[in-house]
Amino acid sequence: MTASRTDWFVHDRFGMFVHFGLYSVAARHEWVQNYERIEAADYARYARFFDPDLFDARALARQAREAGARYVVLTAKHHEGFCLWDTATTPFNAAEACGRDLVREYVDALRAEGLRVGLYFSLLDWSHPQYTIDRHHPQRGAADVVEQNAGRDMAVYRTYLHAQVRELLTGYGPLDYLFFDFTEPAEEDGLPGKSPEDWDAETLLAMCRELQPDMIVNDRLGIPADLVTPEQYQPVRPFERDGVPLVWEACQTINGSWGYHRDNHDSKSAALLVRMLARSVALGGNLLLNVGPTGRGEIAPRDAALLSEVGEWMTRHADAVRGAGASRFTAPSGVVYTQRGDRLYAHLFDWPFGLLHLPDLADRVDFARFLDDGSEVLFENIPADQEAFNLQPAAPEPGTLTLKLPVQPPSVALPVIELYLRASS
Ligand code: GLC
Repeated sequence: MTASRTDWFVHDRFGMFVHFGLYSVAARHEWVQNYERIEAADYARYARFFDPDLFDARALARQAREAGARYVVLTAKHHEGFCLWDTATTPFNAAEACGRDLVREYVDALRAEGLRVGLYFSLLDWSHPQYTIDRHHPQRGAADVVEQNAGRDMAVYRTYLHAQVRELLTGYGPLDYLFFDFTEPAEEDGLPGKSPEDWDAETLLAMCRELQPDMIVNDRLGIPADLVTPEQYQPVRPFERDGVPLVWEACQTINGSWGYHRDNHDSKSAALLVRMLARSVALGGNLLLNVGPTGRGEIAPRDAALLSEVGEWMTRHADAVRGAGASRFTAPSGVVYTQRGDRLYAHLFDWPFGLLHLPDLADRVDFARFLDDGSEVLFENIPADQEAFNLQPAAPEPGTLTLKLPVQPPSVALPVIELYLRASS
């Protein structure tokens, strides 16, 4: 197999997304400017109150690693247009607002922690006066959209956008991942979206290849690149194009909002999050789990606690995730399989009483153990002619391996049994 720039990514399987910007100060969703239709000039006032005194990139990197993530993706610029790096393209940036280049701090901290470095970059920009008002723009409801747009020139914005991407790709050393966001050409309510031509996506991608040949790029320039990025849903089958499997990554929030949302307490549990991770890997994909630091820049305690719980699970179950992928075996209901070489991992979403029947695995397994504590799980092949009688269950389908489970599941967010497959399997 030839080495590909996505090898590390497919191996690592689990990353952390970080949405941080002026919207973190508003604390009402990262689309607050759009939802509340705030004019760019009014929104810009948040820069005056941007004081990320608790943004500690080293702590952030450590929290990511301890959660089990091996790469992180930070919003260098979100749709609001505020840049977290010290850019020459606009004064609307963190260096102007608080005297810090947060991208630099972040990149350095991730490298020091031995993590892969990713940046998110919004193609949309609601701060730029030449960016045309489209279906997603905060001013989409203005009576004079047509007149306003007549005075705007996307070519000017395009030059600005390319200059910003160039700065990021040349000023911060090698980057591992660039997550562009997003291209949606379809129109809505009489207003257009934006298409790859609006960004000159081909030239942007070529710039990425030229300046950072090993960096992976997602699909949201609106043209195919290295991976596809399903968002806020879990796919039910692997992705492919023309019969060729695609590298993919599901990106997920904790509570539905990417940016810090103070009053949204609809957090997923750690048990649900690790199930989402297991399901992604079982379909050959990755999971990018988001946190939205508070306006002061720290991961809110409620999210930090969840990350720790996920990390607690990852400490003991990383072998079922990192370096693992889909299995050719079909798991029975209530079970999800991942596989790493000759190790098959049964993630037990349900906890059956006593016996767990695994089709097609009879005579294929040398040893079975719980992954959390390594304790042996006994198994048997029930003879095909066994009939039900008092204490004796009828034989399951021929070829089934039957595991004997204790009544009490291991006390972990998601129990996993590791099966050592025989070389012949
Ligand atoms: C979306 C949203 C955005 C979020 C992103 C994450 O496209 O516009 O707010 O940053 O997805 O994937």
